[in-house]
Amino acid sequence: MKLANNKATLSFSNGTPNIELPVYSGSVGPDVIDIRKLYAQTGMFTYDPGFLSTASCQSTITYIDGDKGELLYRGYPIEQLATHCDFLETCHLLLYGDLPNAEGKASFTRRVTNHTMVNEQMQFFLRGFRRDAHPMAIMTGLVGALSAFYHDSTDINNPEHREISAIRLIAKLPTLVAMAYKYSAGQPYMYPRNSLSYAGNFLHMMFATPCEPYEVNPVIERALDRIFILHADHEQNASTSTVRLCGSSGTNPFAAIAAGVACLWGPAHGGANEACLNMLTDIQKMGGVSKVGEFINQVKDKTSGIKLMGFGHRVYKNYDPRAKLMQETCREVLTALGLENDPLFKLAMALEKIALEDDYFVQRKLYPNVDFYSGIVQRAIGIPTSLFTAIFALARTVGWIAQLNEMIGDPEYKIGRPRQLYTGSAPREVKPLAQR
Ligand code: ACO
Repeated sequence: MKLANNKATLSFSNGTPNIELPVYSGSVGPDVIDIRKLYAQTGMFTYDPGFLSTASCQSTITYIDGDKGELLYRGYPIEQLATHCDFLETCHLLLYGDLPNAEGKASFTRRVTNHTMVNEQMQFFLRGFRRDAHPMAIMTGLVGALSAFYHDSTDINNPEHREISAIRLIAKLPTLVAMAYKYSAGQPYMYPRNSLSYAGNFLHMMFATPCEPYEVNPVIERALDRIFILHADHEQNASTSTVRLCGSSGTNPFAAIAAGVACLWGPAHGGANEACLNMLTDIQKMGGVSKVGEFINQVKDKTSGIKLMGFGHRVYKNYDPRAKLMQETCREVLTALGLENDPLFKLAMALEKIALEDDYFVQRKLYPNVDFYSGIVQRAIGIPTSLFTAIFALARTVGWIAQLNEMIGDPEYKIGRPRQLYTGSAPREVKPLAQR
């Protein structure tokens, strides 16, 4: 970051002297006003619940232009990455700053695939869960538990530990998600097959059984790989900020990523893909496309508490570029599987069309986000709805780690400690029990 040509001047109406605040520019995007000395100089904090105008860090990883609907990983447009690269190349890009050449790709792939198995003891840990436990409940537990299995990579201040835990997390997350699925289905766990691609191996661990050979369908493999790429990172969103804040205390990487998994679960964040598919299924049960108008009216009625899930975004005030790519993938997968007339896809298209023409959505700049179509693709692939957010977590793990490692490697990094505007009781005396 570099100093901008101008400074910000903060003036007060009560005679407190003005103060000057430095302004910094990034490479693209809005400048920031540096308020770090504000409290020392004025005794005041800034107030920004929900971080509507606050940059919490500087980062070189991901850039979003919400008005244009643009998403870049390390400067590369998401459309180009989703078309020309695979997920492991994208992981390399996010972790190390650039795309690998052929040799670098082969060596990174080897390093990741070397770590796809989890400690055999992990299955006994899994057994402690009810069979009907939500996969995100299981994932929060399993990812946190990794720190109990890999003692040799828990020192966040040691670059070698950070590197090996990064590789372990990327390699093991698919194995853990597939184990959570197999456990709920009552089927035997399938060990990873390292000759397959990252996405192909995940499909194998999910859908193969020991009884017969399993062939990976290349269209599904590519679609899943694209889902992983589209979810790999997304700047300082709620779960990434959670990982950074959690990691800022010096906790181990597995614990910090488990915190991210827990945050992602919420329906306003990663849980929206599950909530969106449930919403589409409910409308379908009510009568499908013919009920879209009625449903949209309910969404617009603020007293109903109903939201159009998969719509709206804190940063995008234009079409989420990931949603466009996801819609394309959705069409490809449904065609490859002979499901062109899938009623939920038709319903989603009808909902999107009406919402995009409706004043309520136009005025508020509400567009489909990545979750609007991802559930339909995953359902077509055979992934149960309750597993959608776990797949999002699997893909986002690399982004979380890249952001965590960037923070720890930053000489300016400090434990995250927001302040508050206290509105509770002024100091008062505790009365003895008999007088209260
Ligand atoms: N349906 C109906 N109205 C909506 C929706 C929606 N999906 N999203 C926003 N609005 C309305 C709000 O009610 C508000 O209206 P108002 O100005 O009349 O009060 C206005 O649009 C602005 O919305 P906010 O809630 O203030 O926007 P915020 O940035 O805080 O929230 C969020 C963003 C959480 C994503 C929101 O749009 C939402 O809940 N969407 C549905 C859930 C979803 O799809 N989440 C996935 C996000 S992407 C991701 O995490 C992968």
